[in-house]
Formats: sequence, structure tokens, C-alpha cells
Amino acid sequence: MKLLIDDANIEKIKTIYQYYPIDGVTTNPSILAKSGRNPYEVLKEIRAYIGEDAELHAQVISRTAEGMIEEAHKMAEILGKNTYIKVPTIPEGLKAMKALSKEGFKITATAIYTPMQAYLAAKAGADYAAPYVNRIDNLGANGIDSTKMIQDIFDNNGFKTQILAASFKNSNQVQELCAYGVGAATVAPDVIENLIKNACVTSAVEDFITDFEKLCGEGKTMLDCQ
Ligand code: G3P
Repeated sequence: MKLLIDDANIEKIKTIYQYYPIDGVTTNPSILAKSGRNPYEVLKEIRAYIGEDAELHAQVISRTAEGMIEEAHKMAEILGKNTYIKVPTIPEGLKAMKALSKEGFKITATAIYTPMQAYLAAKAGADYAAPYVNRIDNLGANGIDSTKMIQDIFDNNGFKTQILAASFKNSNQVQELCAYGVGAATVAPDVIENLIKNACVTSAVEDFITDFEKLCGEGKTMLDCQ
């Protein structure tokens, strides 16, 4: 499963990139709005940091397919070849996906709340389909089960489309989908950090250091003993 950062804050992105094995960055209009800055300025800054080979996902805003297609052209030109155009999975979005996939654009079908949206997006040529796990949970449905069903639909129908699961609020949601083998998950920085935060692990590592220092002296490491 690929792991992407769902945030546009460059400082947070840099911190996470420094420590964790990350495949790219996803944004949406609400995430970009938090910056209060020109969206292209923010996206170009992210692209410059993550490099041209990493995935960058950015969303179109238009309500019509024609507008979405026009936006996609501008976005791909400015943000580079490995930019995934996020297109909302509504009827106009499906129309845009069909056209954009024929033109060779990389497409992430977004705002997916139901398996049938994902099925239609896959048929329309999307590279990724992004179910909103936690938002589905908040509707009283089950985001994990819906996402697993989407994976089964893709597998059983021979679609090449991959899942880019989004909207996570806790480690367990990420873990469940990782175990199921979905293609990718995009996760907010705080949830990524919580994937590994564990007092037992911290304590075990501290015990190892303490025992070593008892053996070789305070502040000593394997560099100092020979
Ligand atoms: O772009 C989709 C995803 O980022 C939504 O996440 O946390 O707003 O439900 P959230």
C-alpha cells in the first residue's frame, strides 16, 4: 500500500517526509483553503519539495465537465507529469474522466461515498478511486467495509483502477485497509505519526540504551567500543 500525506502545509510535509517512507501528497480545496494562499503557489512549493517523480494530487473546482477538463490541462502543465487530477465522482465528473483518460491524464476519482461511484469511476478510466473512510463511518455506514467492497469490485471485474483511501481518523482504519492490500492511503500528518507512536516501544528502546550505558558508560554507543 502506498502512503501519501493528506495536507498542504509545507512544514508538516517536510517533517513527515524526513521520517517516514512517503509516496506523495494529496490536497483538496478545503485543505488548500486553510493556507490562505494562492493555490498554485502552495502546490508548486509542494511539488518542488517532493520532486517530479512523487505523486501530487490536486482537485478541479468547476461544476461542468468542460470546465474540469480545462482546469486539468492548466494544472498538469503547471504542476508536472506526475500530477493526479482529482475529479469529483458526480455525473459531470464522470464525463470529464472519460475525456481526460482518453487524453492520457492521471485521474483520481474523489468524493466517493459508495461502491457504485467507484465502479463508475473505474469504468470511466480513473487511475485511483478515493473512498472517504471516516466520512462514510459518520453517515452510519462502514467505511472499511465499503472500501473492501470497492477492492472486490475492482478485482472481480478486472479493473486496473486502484483505491486511494482517504479521510482517516485513526490508525486502525489505516491498518485494516493495509492488511486488505488496497493500493494507497492518504493520511493526515497526525494520524501518520500515530501509526507508530507507542509508549511500550519507546520504553523498550530506552531500556536497551540504559543497559548498554551500564555496560560501556553514559552516552556511549557502538562507535565508542572496540
Ligand atoms: O480529500 C479527501 C479527504 O482528505 C477528506 O478527509 O478528513 O476531510 O474527511 P476529511
